Amino acid sequence: MNENLHRLRCFGCGARIAGADAQPDFRCAQCGELFEVEYPGWSERHGHDRPNPGALKWLWRDRRASLEPADQSGVWRFRELLPILDSLDNAITLREGNTPLYHLPRAAKALGISQLFAKHQGMNPTGSFKDTGMTAAISVARERGFEWVACASTGNTSASMAAYAARAGLRSLVLIPEGKIAWGKLSQAMDYGAVTCQLPVDFDGCLRLLTEVVRQAPIYLLNSVNPYRLEGQKTPAFEIAEAFEWDVPAHIVVPGGNLGNSSALGKGFRELHELGMIARLPRISVIQAAGANPLVRSLAETNGAALEPVQAHTRATAIRIGNPASWRKAVRVIQETGGRCLDVSEAEISIAKAEIGAEGLGCEPASAVTLAGLKKLRAQGFVAPEDSVVLVLTGHTLKDAGYTIDFHRGTLLTEEETGGSGSEIAAEMAALRRNAVAVDATASAVLAAMKGKVG
Ligand code: F0G
Repeated sequence: MNENLHRLRCFGCGARIAGADAQPDFRCAQCGELFEVEYPGWSERHGHDRPNPGALKWLWRDRRASLEPADQSGVWRFRELLPILDSLDNAITLREGNTPLYHLPRAAKALGISQLFAKHQGMNPTGSFKDTGMTAAISVARERGFEWVACASTGNTSASMAAYAARAGLRSLVLIPEGKIAWGKLSQAMDYGAVTCQLPVDFDGCLRLLTEVVRQAPIYLLNSVNPYRLEGQKTPAFEIAEAFEWDVPAHIVVPGGNLGNSSALGKGFRELHELGMIARLPRISVIQAAGANPLVRSLAETNGAALEPVQAHTRATAIRIGNPASWRKAVRVIQETGGRCLDVSEAEISIAKAEIGAEGLGCEPASAVTLAGLKKLRAQGFVAPEDSVVLVLTGHTLKDAGYTIDFHRGTLLTEEETGGSGSEIAAEMAALRRNAVAVDATASAVLAAMKGKVG
């Protein structure tokens, strides 16, 4: 590793160690907290290693026209801001990143805001935002000579890890909560050749167990406790800033599960700011499902000083997490950017997901919490009509087709969750539903179906 360029700093006690000295579970030996990567050369204003903002902005854009695999990656294109490898030849890339930033005109109109965008991380090679972090951490794993990599997952991390491990020629081990991950994601882990263990515990239990396993065998842990994952996952912040011509939107809204993603995006914007590449930070708000909201509670009850784990329940299985590992980092991001943290109900998630689908984009349920949360932030007056907002859509709609089909068939939620058939929510859901209909094999039957007159 390029130790002269990076080191690890404990987020709790501030201890600094070389990357190669981290424990297998990436916890600080002194205080048990997580680490983050830091680059000592950047802090000296005229230091030798301090990146030159003007030159980099030009170089990064120029690389988009290059035919080199690393240049075509939306992570390694920004390699000057993640100098974690000895050699770029060790980078394992599936051409992740460089994801589209879409305008959301209908949702913007409904919310009364002029500039609403979706940064669609579901357009990554394995269909989720995890790929930007995985390319970074898998490359480190290979450079350090590991033969096995592993993660606990609600599905997307495992899909991503399995793919990148296969590309790197490494073996991968996946621990997932049995029956609690979407089929699309499970199928990916199998397709890419992972050893997949389904355990009769939740995600938090899987992660706890894996921490024990990696202490007993030379396996490289690839959950977002691994600080190199977050180095890759900070790059969408660079892409957003670049797309806004190195200004930034007023607000970024991101889902919160294990809280690695919000932490990484915050780090990305913080570094751009510290390096003088952007003039201010966007407000970063984190949205959780109401049934899996430990961070919302932590901020409401202790202002983020302590976090009480919860027993998590939500159909947005990607964020069914009750004991998020990176909560302290996420608290810092919300507090330093002036963002908010709130939760949304199962019905609100399902409606927001259908609305994103109706814009021709689609996303998985966990991603839709962003639009559901934005509606609340707008209603609170926290987002003004002239504010620009970017929703981070974390996963592709095909990841969890079962959820979408249940929504359109009207079988997704219970009466209790919709407030009964006469409720406003039930009416909103009915207006969005587009169930498939069985029709006779005649032109007139098909034409009648187009007019909504079936049967
Ligand atoms: N959205 C999707 C689609 C996810 O898969 C996840 C996390 C999140 C949001 C939350 O991101 O954990 O960084 O706060 N999925 C993990 C997994 C936990 O195992 O795939 P976070």
